[in-house]
This record gives sequence, structure tokens and C-alpha cells, in this order.
Amino acid sequence: MYEFYLTCPRGLENILHDEIKLLINQKINVDKGGIYFNGNLEDMYRINYHTRIGMNLHYKLFEGYVSNYNDVYKSIYNLKWNNILTYNDTFAIRTKLNSTIIQNQNFCTMRIKDAIVDKIRKNTNKRPSIDKRNPNFYIFIYIKNKKIKVFLNSSGWPLFMRGYRSKIHKAALNESLAAGILDLTNWNKNLSLYDPMCGSGTFLIEAAMKAFNIPPRILRDFYAFKKWKNFDTKLWDKIVTEGKNKIKYSEINIYGSDLIQQNINLSEDSIRKLSLDKYINLSVNNFNKIKPNENKGIVIINPPYGYRIGDIDKLKILYKNIGDHFKTRFNGFDAYIFTGNLELIKHIGLRTKKRIILKNGTIDCRLVYYPLISGKY
Ligand SMILES: C[S@@+](CC[C@H](N)C(=O)[O-])C[C@H]1O[C@@H](n2cnc3c(N)ncnc32)[C@H](O)[C@@H]1O
Repeated sequence: MYEFYLTCPRGLENILHDEIKLLINQKINVDKGGIYFNGNLEDMYRINYHTRIGMNLHYKLFEGYVSNYNDVYKSIYNLKWNNILTYNDTFAIRTKLNSTIIQNQNFCTMRIKDAIVDKIRKNTNKRPSIDKRNPNFYIFIYIKNKKIKVFLNSSGWPLFMRGYRSKIHKAALNESLAAGILDLTNWNKNLSLYDPMCGSGTFLIEAAMKAFNIPPRILRDFYAFKKWKNFDTKLWDKIVTEGKNKIKYSEINIYGSDLIQQNINLSEDSIRKLSLDKYINLSVNNFNKIKPNENKGIVIINPPYGYRIGDIDKLKILYKNIGDHFKTRFNGFDAYIFTGNLELIKHIGLRTKKRIILKNGTIDCRLVYYPLISGKY
């Protein structure tokens, strides 16, 4: 059994718990910024392939206490590194410090590196080297007060990297966050979905992939655990094949639009890579021209919010116009706005039913829910 920690965007911990509960048969504990649980190799592969919301799956090597940098060196040195890596391997170290005694991140990282190198060199007279960009091992160390936890990151690259994007829209949502937000709206494939400011199409693509059971990283080959000594190709192939066999296409109503043609091109590009062209309807349009074909469903908008693109006074009017358009055209729908500007949200002018606190990286965000029921705005 391994001890795992799966990270996620802040605010999505509970729905991550629910998602993983469906994938593995283990008791799962909810923490701030992730979940932790025990599991086996199969669980590790399954989660890396299937989680839509999880971001990095770490496996714990050690947990203990440290009072100074020397203790950090010793506790890292004492680990059985020879069972994990050889002098031919490369590694990268990421440290997260939240401690009044161990505060110097560069020095701490250097001591950790020395400890690993010294340990391997002691037995072999040769040393592994650091590769920050494409290492064989991603080592993650978390120190909180006096507690130290040492992990190997089994994912390597964050799991929001699905492999369907070629170019990045400058305000594109993190895919794991978008998938989690969709779950929070309770959208399912029997409901129509509209995103009238779709940008690079993250909500649309994540929704279609979930609806058809398409594994979120069907286009991605890279995972750190594939470079580990215990990599079990047969088991991994089994999980991938099982995942692909569960894909099932059906009729679906997903509509995305954006004011800017280049953004629609980005959406199209990703949608084509996943062969979802005939399931997602795209158009170049001002949001205020969009009228739904159905009389109920979900409309979700992630409008510009000023920190990255746009301008505040114009945005206040834009947010007011979004509220007005929802009222006049999307009657019967459940509307959601996801934004990182808490001030602008007040300009929507609709009655709020629910406000969910989320983080987009370091930005404090809200997902706000407005049920659009005639006469009750
Ligand atoms: C924050 S970005 C959305 C990013 C998107 N969620 C993604 O993951 O790529 C906001 C988008 O709103 C679009 N937009 C701004 N004003 C608009 C308008 N009046 N009508 C339609 N789209 C608009 C922008 O072009 C931009 O792509």
C-alpha cells in the first residue's frame, strides 16, 4: 500500500473526493488543497489516467520532524534512495515551506539535493544530476512548522495538461478547475450547455469529454511513474484500454461562442484533436446575440475580469449586460458566472442563489449561481 496525496484547485476538495470515490475502493480524507488516501499501483495509474479535477498525485516516502537544516539533510539522507533512483537518473526538487525555522527555500533545496546526491554517491561513487525541465524523478518536499513530508510526484506534469491544446489563450482556464466547476453546476449530458464567452473552449471540451466518458488525458503519454523501476506496462495498458473501451458517444447539445475569431480557432483546434467536431457547436458572436434553442439547461460564462484582459469601467457595463441578457433570453436556465473580480460580480444585477469560493492559481474567485426563473430575478 502507498500513501497518496492528490492536489486540486482550492475549493474543489469535496467534489474531488466524490470523483475519486468512484475510481478507487479506499477511504478518502479531505484536506485543504487536496485529498489523501492509501492505495496500490493500480489506483495510482487509474487516478493519473482518469481524474478530471486532480492536479498532481504524490506518493509519500517519508514523514518526520526537523528543527534545523541539518535535520532536513539527515532525514533526506536516511531515505533508501538507492531503491528509488540510480546515478544515471536525473531529478528535480520542489519545496514548499510554511515554517518559522526553515525559511530559506534555496538553502533548504540545496541541502535536500546534497543529501540525495551524497547518498547515491556513497554506494556507487557516481552522482545523479538535477534536471529541472525533464527529470526522471519529481521530488516534492513540504515543511510545515517542524513537520517534514517527502513525496514523489507520480504525475510529473500537472494533470490539467491534457494534451489537447496547441496554443494557449491568454486567459484560458486551468482544465482541472473547469472540470470541477462543471461538476459544481450539476451539468449532465441530458442538459444543454452554453458558454457564450468560450475563449479556447475549456468548459465545452471538458463537458463533452465527461459526457462521452473520454479519459481526460487520452492524448497524453507522459507520466513520471513511467520512468520508475516498478513501472508495470501491462497494468498501465490494461487501464488505458479499459478506459478507451468505456467511451460512448450520444446526442448532446453543447454551444460555445466568442467575440473573437482567433479564440474560436483555438477551440476548434482542440476540438478537432479530440474528434469532437460534430458534437460541439461553435460560432463567432457577441454574447448578446446568443439565444438558446432549448428552454432549460446550463449557461456558464467566465467573462474577462480585469486582471489579465479588459478594462474595469467597460467591464462593469459588460457584467450588467450579461445579467440583462440572461434575464431576457435564458429564462428557465441555471446561469453561472465564474470570475476573479468580486467587485464586478455586483454589476450582474440578478438575485444570487449560491456563491462558491474557488481559487484560480493565487486569484480569489467566485462561482455564482443565478436560477433564471421568470419574475424572480
Ligand atoms: C476569461 S476569457 C474566457 C476563457 C475561457 N473560459 C477559456 O477557458 O479559454 C473571456 C472571453 O470572453 C470573450 N469576450 C469578451 N467580450 C465578449 C463579448 N461581448 N461577447 C462574446 N465574447 C466576449 C473574450 O474574447 C475572451 O475569450
